[in-house]
Amino acid sequence: MKILLLGKSGQVGFELKRSLSLLGDIVAPNRHELDLEKLDAVNDFVNKTKPDVIVNAAAWTDVDGAETNKNLTLRLNTVLPALLATYAKENQCKLVHYSSDYVYPGTGTQAWSEESKTSPINYYGVTKLESDQAIENSGSDYLIFRTSWVYSARRNNFMKTMLRLAESKRELSIIDDQIGSPTTARLIAQTTVLALHSNLKTGVYNLAAKGHVSWHQFAESIFTKAKLFDFDSVLEKINAIPTREYPTPAKRPLNSRMNVSKLESALNITIPSWEDELADTLEEYLEKK
Ligand SMILES: NC(=O)c1ccc[n+]([C@@H]2O[C@H](COP(=O)([O-])OP(=O)(O)OC[C@H]3O[C@@H](n4cnc5c(N)ncnc54)[C@H](OP(=O)(O)O)[C@@H]3O)[C@@H](O)[C@H]2O)c1
Repeated sequence: MKILLLGKSGQVGFELKRSLSLLGDIVAPNRHELDLEKLDAVNDFVNKTKPDVIVNAAAWTDVDGAETNKNLTLRLNTVLPALLATYAKENQCKLVHYSSDYVYPGTGTQAWSEESKTSPINYYGVTKLESDQAIENSGSDYLIFRTSWVYSARRNNFMKTMLRLAESKRELSIIDDQIGSPTTARLIAQTTVLALHSNLKTGVYNLAAKGHVSWHQFAESIFTKAKLFDFDSVLEKINAIPTREYPTPAKRPLNSRMNVSKLESALNITIPSWEDELADTLEEYLEKK
């Protein structure tokens, strides 16, 4: 099986590059080999590669920057996936794509299911929802995984930001009214491999670690667990603050709880809790630091 992987240098892409090799030959161009903003070049590359499966882990992921870079965000997050879906439909290729908790409205306290109403509250979320809809309408064989609060030992993410700040700051103020499920890039990649191997039925699936926390609780867990790996910090106090005290260019959902039972029953798996995944990721990051 020939797999075309886009976004191999990203958090999820890096883990996919490691795990997908179990399933076949991987073609994984980096940005210099294939600039995904150039859609004609993408079209040529895909037609030349003739993959059996396309795994698209590339995206514009700067949520605040999306508000001021709308054209580019739209091209990468909506037009590119739509183009890939058209190729997939016309060439009996399977498309795997990653979407976001940001397609949901972010209100209330119920965990979102795949049938929940969608209503994004920022531009990044709009482009992720539009890509989901374009893929669903393409008639292709696809898997869309809606994930949330992604982190890993690589690139920029909340875990790494917390550890960096704790080396120089005695006090931090962290939001405690946004609730979600921190999810490792490794869990996403492993589940993707399992889904492809099991020939998971085409559709949209929520894919996030079980359980949920606020960013403030997540930060506390990061520091508590990091101490077990001899992490040195000057941090003395973490204040809990509401979202309104930390204004950002893009609005953030307060409720990112995800119901993953559809995926669990379709694959006959038990998705681990975010707490189970944190220690391994911390250890990996602190050891290579
Ligand atoms: N991060 C989260 O918290 C989160 C939450 C929910 C859903 N998701 C979704 O999960 C997926 C993976 O996210 P992630 O966190 O792994 O993303 P990431 O770490 O930001 O990686 C994005 C990838 O896209 C590539 N890329 C962007 N623009 C490109 C261009 N013009 N040409 C070539 N490559 C380009 C990047 O390449 P470079 O290294 O060259 O920049 C990188 O490999 C995305 O679909 C994202 O929307 C993420």
